[in-house]
Amino acid sequence: MKKILLLAVALSSLLVAKSEMETCVKCHPTIVEEFKGSMHKNSSFYDDEIHKAVWDKHPLKAKGDYNCAECHAPNAKAEEDVKEGITCTTCHTIKDVEEHKSKNKNVYAKDTKTLYSAEAGRESEKVAYKQESSWFGMNKTTVGSPYHDIDYSNEKFYTAQVCMGCHSHRENSHEFMLCETGKEGAKDKQENCITCHMPKVEGSATTIRHSQKHAFHGFAGARKHPEMLTQYVDLNFKKAGNGFEVSVENKAPHNFMLHPLRVAELRVKYH
Ligand code: HEC
Ligand code: HEC
Ligand code: HEC
Ligand code: HEC
Ligand code: HEC
Repeated sequence: MKKILLLAVALSSLLVAKSEMETCVKCHPTIVEEFKGSMHKNSSFYDDEIHKAVWDKHPLKAKGDYNCAECHAPNAKAEEDVKEGITCTTCHTIKDVEEHKSKNKNVYAKDTKTLYSAEAGRESEKVAYKQESSWFGMNKTTVGSPYHDIDYSNEKFYTAQVCMGCHSHRENSHEFMLCETGKEGAKDKQENCITCHMPKVEGSATTIRHSQKHAFHGFAGARKHPEMLTQYVDLNFKKAGNGFEVSVENKAPHNFMLHPLRVAELRVKYH
């Protein structure tokens, strides 16, 4: 009886595949918590009502061809994976970005146990997990992560080119440019998509190796955490002639409001 029960448990755990984040959360709880609220996690028609509204009217829907998945749920192999949206390994396995006319394309590494990342001062390191003991085995220290290897040498994680597979541009079949993010923001190592949208905030990146700060994974944007971007937008009000003038200075290297579906509202109160 006990044996049968055990077998049943083993089988059911095979059937219910664990979501990737349930693994990462053990050692990266702060980052996973931030990510859960981001538009990257909530990018499919299951969680983003704006995306759903557009998809519902899209001609491809009738054909059941959800080709938006390439950017909105890139790891989805089956219908039920679409809900996962963009996942941790989506970005951390982007090896290269191919430039194309209608839209760019991410090239993913086949080895999903080696994750790319960036850290100042470690630009050429590839870190595999090891335990080192000193004091004749009395003191054990670990290097790297027991769950995955890390490759810090991918230049694209320093210049933010890693963002450009999905964000660069998109043309429709009539060669009309639907949306475009200026390339200037993905060249410089000092200021780029990552430094503005993933600023360093308080809290350790891992529970195993303590750090003061970590790169914000809630992805500050138009919909989530816009307050984190106010330092890059100046709003000025000036009396002019018999009226007034409101000026908005955009300090981002890309256009203000990148998406064609975005609407901004300027509320003015007067007494
Ligand atoms: C058992 C613990 C553990 C698990 C599980 C784990 N990691 Fe890690 N991870 C670590 C540790 C420890 C480091 C820091 C290694 C170092 O600094 O040498 C790390 C570092 C990283 C880095 C690079 C950080 C940097 O310094 O730039 C990334 C990216 C990363 N992990 C992503 C993930 C993702 C995605 C998952 C889930 C698929 C995951 N990790 C699961 C322990 C873990
Ligand atoms: C080449 C990558 C790519 C493809 C393919 C793609 N998108 Fe997007 N989409 C993006 C990016 C990047 C954004 C975020 C841009 C922004 O916020 O300015 C976005 C944002 C959106 C938004 C705005 C969402 C919001 O919450 O405000 C809608 C709606 C949308 N996409 C619909 C679609 C639909 C429908 C399809 C498929 C027919 C599709 N997209 C295919 C990259 C893509
Ligand atoms: C696999 C494709 C993909 C990659 C890679 C990617 N993004 Fe996105 N990003 C998207 C999509 C799709 C959306 C729109 C989601 C939605 O609104 O439904 C988005 C939305 C955003 C937003 C808007 C959030 C908001 O609240 O308005 C920001 C900011 C952003 N991404 C920054 C980045 C940065 C920085 C990088 C590089 C580190 C990056 N993205 C890499 C696909 C991607
Ligand atoms: C949209 C792309 C994207 C997604 C999705 C993403 N990351 Fe990252 N992550 C990055 C980039 C880019 C960096 C490097 C940040 C930097 O250089 O400041 C990074 C850095 C990290 C680091 C090191 C942070 C630090 O400051 O030391 C860890 C750990 C990490 N990611 C884990 C995760 C986990 C876990 C998930 C899923 C919950 C995840 N990432 C999802 C792009 C992404
Ligand atoms: C100097 C800081 C800065 C840099 C660098 C930067 N951005 Fe932004 N970004 C902003 C600000 C400020 C906003 C909010 C105002 C706006 O919508 O333009 C924004 C908005 C966005 C949005 C949401 C806009 C919308 O209307 O849907 C996306 C997506 C985005 N940025 C992606 C990127 C990507 C990808 C890069 C790198 C190529 C990048 N940003 C570089 C400051 C920056």
